[in-house]
This record gives sequence, structure tokens and C-alpha cells, in this order.
Amino acid sequence: MCGIIGYIGNQEAYPILIKGLHRLEYRGYDSAGVALINPNGQLNIYKNKGKVSQLEESIEGKDVSGNIGIAHTRWATHGEPNNVNAHPHYSNSGTLALIHNGIIENYALLKSGLIEKGCTFHSDTDTEVLVQLIDYIKTSGNHSLFDAVQLALNQVIGAYAIAILDRDDPDRIIIARKSSPLVIGIREEEDEYFFASDASPIVEYTNSVIYLQDNEIAIISRKEPLKVIDLKNVEKTPEVSRLEMSISQLERGDYPHFMLKEIFEQPKTIADCMKGRINTEGTNVVLSGIIDNKARFLSARRIIIVACGTSWHSALIGEHLIENLCRIPVEVEYASEFRYRDPIIYPDDIVIAISQSGETADTLAAIELSKQKGAFIYGICNVVGSSIARATDSGSYIHVGPEIGVASTKAFTGQVTVLAMLAMTLAKEKGTIKPNELTTMIKAFKKIPEQMELLLSANSQIQETAKIFTYARNFIYLGRGYSYPSALEGALKLKEISYIHAEGYPAAEMKHGPIALIDSEMPVIVIATNTKLYEKVLNNIQEVKARSGRVIAVVTEGDEDVRKLADYYIAIPKTMECFGPLLAAIPLQLLAYHIAVYKGKDVDQPRHLAKSVTVE
Ligand code: F6R
Repeated sequence: MCGIIGYIGNQEAYPILIKGLHRLEYRGYDSAGVALINPNGQLNIYKNKGKVSQLEESIEGKDVSGNIGIAHTRWATHGEPNNVNAHPHYSNSGTLALIHNGIIENYALLKSGLIEKGCTFHSDTDTEVLVQLIDYIKTSGNHSLFDAVQLALNQVIGAYAIAILDRDDPDRIIIARKSSPLVIGIREEEDEYFFASDASPIVEYTNSVIYLQDNEIAIISRKEPLKVIDLKNVEKTPEVSRLEMSISQLERGDYPHFMLKEIFEQPKTIADCMKGRINTEGTNVVLSGIIDNKARFLSARRIIIVACGTSWHSALIGEHLIENLCRIPVEVEYASEFRYRDPIIYPDDIVIAISQSGETADTLAAIELSKQKGAFIYGICNVVGSSIARATDSGSYIHVGPEIGVASTKAFTGQVTVLAMLAMTLAKEKGTIKPNELTTMIKAFKKIPEQMELLLSANSQIQETAKIFTYARNFIYLGRGYSYPSALEGALKLKEISYIHAEGYPAAEMKHGPIALIDSEMPVIVIATNTKLYEKVLNNIQEVKARSGRVIAVVTEGDEDVRKLADYYIAIPKTMECFGPLLAAIPLQLLAYHIAVYKGKDVDQPRHLAKSVTVE
């Protein structure tokens, strides 16, 4: 949801900014721009509709000199994607350039106030109000840039990560955040600073970072040490953290797309996620976040899981796992609905927030609401140091490494893996699972990475099946029990990257309406693995076949009955029912991927989407 980056130091800023924008492009890609102050003190702003590569082409031959600059890649909220609405926005005085990630909720009011004072606006964005307001305060009140930023932000309602460049002060950049992430990278020995929406553009220059907190403003200067002051004018001592990320994790390598790389990484990411949590003998599971808060978990009246999108699908699997193993009631909520419906939350409830990015605005808001009502908040995140990871009382990282493809794949299986370990740890502590049952479970669980590896070797078979269905305009995905969330997730993967309409249903719900959609044109993907509802799913397949539907079944290896019925099948290795979604995810991801590739779609950056949804 917009990516921002900036640099100040002794190197040429432009190549660093452009490389950084490419790394951040997954956050938004409808337009991009850059602002630089050249050695003669001239402020050059270039911006362009389209992707970062189009910006680069449009800048060719122009002056991109300077060792201070800011850059932005946009996901439009207010104002269509075009050259004018692209960031950076510049002030009427011509001295300031500003980039922004977030939404200014009271922009209309601020804008009309500024227009009354004679300000002119050039774009349709909410962002422009920030630069004009700061400029107005600075020039009319004769304030320093820092004071003007602080005064302006005290009038602003909304979410922002901003950076401001001042032509009249080419040694300083001011940045600020509220509810949108900002990371500062420090390379002290070189007197260099980098900042960005996440650490991916920074990691190749330094491992020392500071995560700016809400309501903080940082003055990044080549002449003075970094200064962080909050909106109430209190000076802060920022905490320097070490990044644990490698560049190879951010690169595609030989894969044609990040999504395919990330699908193929899953045997490793799941093994990494289990590391240190399952003992080497495979006899014990310990999720430290649960053990550290054992009393709280043991006395929980109820668990509420809040999440969005794919993370919400993994939450549904978590509901099954926790209820089955721990006998604690679980409710799963869309964070965006939960936050606005005045939910009943008891102080002895536990709220689990699941988020790959750790920045999803609705999930963050649901956490804040639950906190106010006294619940204990547990986070399951991927991005270390993210806003959600910091807002929760405790939590577990999924440790799957940066996920760059916009469609979530390895984060989904990482989330399910953590939820399985959470349920097993808690069940052991509660005594709701017998020791021998736990040992059997852990044994099956430990086999998942190698079983995933096996499944990936069926890639070309799945690719062939995908080719047959590239023409389809609609798909139905069916599953029951643990496989129902898998059906939802399979359908989401397909629609978001191939733009084919797809719906996931609980298989038995078909006859209550959706069955009317079935005809010989309708591919129906059924997750019909060996579960306690297997026979019933078999009947559901019969119902589809009786209406000429074309069935692609995900079956357990060795299955003969579904195979005979289905038009196409993909076999997954045998595992326990509760771990089935970890394996079923792989063929569904691959099927969606190959269909999208056959259709010539932009798999890693599908239209209208952004990886990290930092606006509501
Ligand atoms: C789908 C997808 C989205 C995200 C959702 C929540 O492939 O990626 O549906 O799952 O936007 O994002 P996080 O998990 O970052 O909170």
C-alpha cells in the first residue's frame, strides 16, 4: 500500500532509490516518482504513471544527480493513477517535496481551509494537503521545517508515513509515522542513512535499523546525529535493532516469478518455522509464546482470531485445530467487520491476530479495540518488528522469510504451521491430549516438509491440468471440515492472479443454492482427501457429476474411489486430517499460478492489489 524510500549520504542517491523502489514495488505499482536535490541545490521531481521501470524510462537523460533524495511507489486511494497524482507532491513555494503512505482522513476539511487562505492544489490526492499545509505553516509563521511538520501533523487525522525534502536545507530529511511503517537504516561509519516502508531496500547496505514508532518525527541529517521527537515535543531515544534478512531472500533467482519461488520454498520455510519448536527426537513441541503466558492461556474463556484475506483462511484452520485439540471455544472474525460491530470481548478472552505483513490497518485496529476491552493479544506475524508484532502482548513469528509475490503462499502455510504448534503446545499444557497421541501427531507433523517436497515434484502434471482449464470463466472450489478453508484459499489464489471468478464453498452447502451454477462448462475443484467426511464428499462429487460438472479432485495418494469419479486428480501424500491443509495448499497454489501464467497475467503484481494493506 505505497512504498516509500529515502537516502542521505555520500553516494549518488538515484540508483539506491530506484533499486529500493523495485524492492518495494509489491506494495503498490500504479505510479512512481522520485525527488532529488542536485549539487547546485536544485530540487528535481520526476514522476510517472505505471511501474518503476516506466519511471526509469521516462527519466532517461535527465539530471538525477544528488546524494539526498526520496522516492515513492503508489497504490492509489484518492485520485486515479496518473502523473499528477503520483508522488512526490511539491509545495506551492516550490521548495518542499513530500511522499506519503497512508490516508489523511480529514484532508477535505484541511484542503478547504487552505484554499480559503489562497493555496492552490494540483492533484486529487489526500497527500497534497500535507505538503501544502506544512508549506503554509512554514512560510506564513516563519517556522523551521521541523516545527511546521510537527504543527501540521497535530492537525491531521489519519495514517501516514511521510518524508519531506526541503530544497533550502539539502542536508536534512524529515520523516514521520503514524500507523504506517517506517524503518531507518544507519551506516554510521559512512555517515549514511536510509529509510523505507520496510527493511527490504535497506538490508544490502546495513543491518542496523530503527523502527520509528507512532507519532514520532525523525530528523535525519548528515551534519547532526539522528534525532527523534514525538508530536508532543518529547525527545526519544531510539532503539537500534539488528536485521536478520539476507539479500538472496529478496531475489527471484532462476524462478520466473517470486510466487513460484515462494511456492517451492515451502518445504524449507515450514522446516524453519518448526525449528527450535519441535525437538530433534520429534517427541515434544514447545511454542515459547504459549509457555511464557501459560496461566493466561489456561484460563482463557474463549479465543477470538482476527485477520484478513489469506490470513483469515489460516485462522479458520486454527479454529478447527484449537477447538479439536484444546477444547477452547474459538471464533474467527474478519478484522474489518470486528472493529466496527461493537463486539463483546471479555478480559479473559485471548485475541489472536494473524498477519503476514504485520501492517494490515484493519487487523491493527481490531487489536487496539480488543486491548481497550482488556483482552490478551497474541500475534502471529511474518515481518519481524512490524506494527502488529509490536502492538501485541506476545506472539510467534512464522519465520518464512520475506514474501514478495502479492499472492500469499508460504505465509499461509507458515501461519497454519504456527497454529498447529500453538494448538499442540496448549493441548499438552491443558492435558486435553494424551502423550501418545501427541507423539503420533508430532511424528506426522515433522514429515510435512518432505511430503511438500514430493508434492512439488508433481508440478508439471499440475501445469498440464492448468492448461486445460485456462479458458474457464468461473471455478467452484469445494471442501469440508479442515478442507473448507483450503477451498476458500484455493479460490482466492485463482481469482487474485488470473482474474477468473472463483468461489469456495463448504461442499454440503452446494445443494442450498450454488449447485444451480453447475453445467459442463463449470470446473469444480474438490478437496476430497482422506478425512472423516470422505464418504460425504464422495456424495457431493456425485451430485456435481450428475449435473455434468467437470471435477478436478485433490485426493490422498492411493485413493481409487474419487479418482474414478473425477475428470482430473492431483494426489497428495497421506497425513493426519488436521495437517491436510498444509499439503492441499501446494497443488492449489500451483494450479492458480499456472493458469495465470497461461493467461499471460502479471502473477507477482496483479492488478489493483498491494501486498500490505495499510489503509482500511
Ligand atoms: C491474498 C493476500 C491477502 C492478505 C491480506 C492480509 O493472497 O495476500 O488476502 O492475506 O491482505 O494481509 P496480512 O496477512 O499481511 O495481514
